[in-house]
Amino acid sequence: MCGIIGRVGSDNAVPYLLKGLECLEYRGYDSAGIALFSAETIESYKTVGRLSGLREITERATPVGCVGIGHTRWATHGGPSVENAHPHFSHSKRFALVHNGIIENSNELAESELKGIEYNSETDTEKAVHLLEKYYNGNVVETISKVISLLKGSYALGILCKDHPDTLFCTAMSSPLVAAKTADGGFICSDAGALSAYADGYYPIKNGEICVLTKKSIEFYDQFGSSIEKKAVSIDVGTLTSDKQGYDHYMMLEMLQQPDAVRDTVIPMIKNNGINIENIDLTDDYIKNELHEVVIVACGSAYHAGVVGKQLIGSLANIRAQAEIASEFRYTEPLIDKHTLAIFISQSGETADTLAALRLAKQKGAKILSVVNVCGSAIANESDNVIYTKAGREVAVATTKAYSAQLAVLYALAIRLARGKGTMCAETEKRMTYELAALPQKIQQTIDRNIEKAEIYAQRFSKATDIYFIGRRLDYAASLEASLKMKEISYIHSEAYAAGEMKHGTLSLIETGVPVIALASDGEIFGKTYSNICEVMARGADMLVVTTEKNKHLVSEFKNTFIVPDTLPEFTVSLQIVPLQLLSYYTAKKKGCDIDKPKNLAKSVTVE
Ligand code: AGP
Repeated sequence: MCGIIGRVGSDNAVPYLLKGLECLEYRGYDSAGIALFSAETIESYKTVGRLSGLREITERATPVGCVGIGHTRWATHGGPSVENAHPHFSHSKRFALVHNGIIENSNELAESELKGIEYNSETDTEKAVHLLEKYYNGNVVETISKVISLLKGSYALGILCKDHPDTLFCTAMSSPLVAAKTADGGFICSDAGALSAYADGYYPIKNGEICVLTKKSIEFYDQFGSSIEKKAVSIDVGTLTSDKQGYDHYMMLEMLQQPDAVRDTVIPMIKNNGINIENIDLTDDYIKNELHEVVIVACGSAYHAGVVGKQLIGSLANIRAQAEIASEFRYTEPLIDKHTLAIFISQSGETADTLAALRLAKQKGAKILSVVNVCGSAIANESDNVIYTKAGREVAVATTKAYSAQLAVLYALAIRLARGKGTMCAETEKRMTYELAALPQKIQQTIDRNIEKAEIYAQRFSKATDIYFIGRRLDYAASLEASLKMKEISYIHSEAYAAGEMKHGTLSLIETGVPVIALASDGEIFGKTYSNICEVMARGADMLVVTTEKNKHLVSEFKNTFIVPDTLPEFTVSLQIVPLQLLSYYTAKKKGCDIDKPKNLAKSVTVE
């Protein structure tokens, strides 16, 4: 997942390119570069590492040009280096190109189409720019059409051609790309949100489409080079980033925005003491008579939310439910059909593994529902029904508010399905809906009650080399997310483990001083979890226990605890995860990690 930007206009393109890349850095930050027309040539500036390095280079060189392309990279083929940084050039320097995606047949193309070519990089991308040179016939659209007929995989390409110094070309296949026309020129970009300062409408570049942008015009062609018409889409300014509002990191801001994110997401779904999810065709008749199974498919934290959803849909609606990791689901020959409701959860709506799984489920006849945080994203566009989380734009790579909003949607969905299946009476629905409406306030209480403790505990955790999170049922589901938060921003190895499973092997790793965080909010099986806590303590574990107000008397022997307010057992994950997000944040902060942009990661994983 990389970010690409292009600008054509009457003034210097460099500031636009750098500002755009700033908005796109969440997509990858291993290296960055720009290319722009200057006099009769295309010149480029590249750096390994963050965009700040590129900014320094361009401040020194002060390049000026009105047409240019830019790129911020998350390394796939070829490590982070200046050589592998985009843009890449054809040998004659006639073409410059930036790419987001993976050209899966790049090695075959090197053999079949580019024999004898010497490469300047280890990237798959470079094959594409040499193919442009090879097949160039004077007509760039025809050349692009020919080259993309050879490419397999995913790509969003921004292209400059030396013979057309006033023109920007782009094309895409299974990789997000938009074009926007402005009064003085235009842009191409991986993410419409990054253009909101300049344009209020944009054109999504669909698979195989080619766009030609000049100061005065914007034209579109299909993959065969025939001219097509497209309609502009308005930019949902609401999803756009704000600044950090005085906090050290977006992650802290976004953790504190969780009450609002949950409130904005669930309140519109609560009507007449019940759940009413608008604009989706989940009728009582479909739920009662057609729906046999639910499969929830996602990646990372979204998958962890799915594990909670699966448990609640099963227990409340008595529907067979599965939670699947998208990159696995695709290759397991899933047994789904028209009686399956396939739910795809994704903050970005662009995750390639999740999108590919969605397409497979659609092929198999399942009804497709997605839970997405970005309007107009690829996953949303390809779903039969979409429920939008209203978390607002989430910038920190480690998700917090979007995950909490996803949980809230899944709670509402489970209640809705239970009513449809007739397994939940009106009184129970009213009680659960009431508690759901109270959740934002309880999240706020949880933050207020535990934020200082989290910072204190972090002093100790920051020295750990391994941290274990254990729990049962929904406590285990919460531990999955808690463990991911800890490792992805503090770089400390961490594992989530079903508490009852520890004695079947992993207990061998527990010795004096090893931190174990036990999530023990499930009062019904507290005794079982307590036994597992005793097992690890007997081996010297350094315990931290998370439980609810109602159960806190059961953990009074422990020095280190997070206590969360009481809520329904079904909703406790939303509260338990908060102090553990905060603990991860402060642990990473103590270690001096780059919390908003952890190494090797990116916010939107648009490659498989
Ligand atoms: C979570 O903190 C990570 N950033 C990552 O696991 C993320 O949840 C995953 O890549 C899925 O992203 P999506 O929700 O945008 O599809």
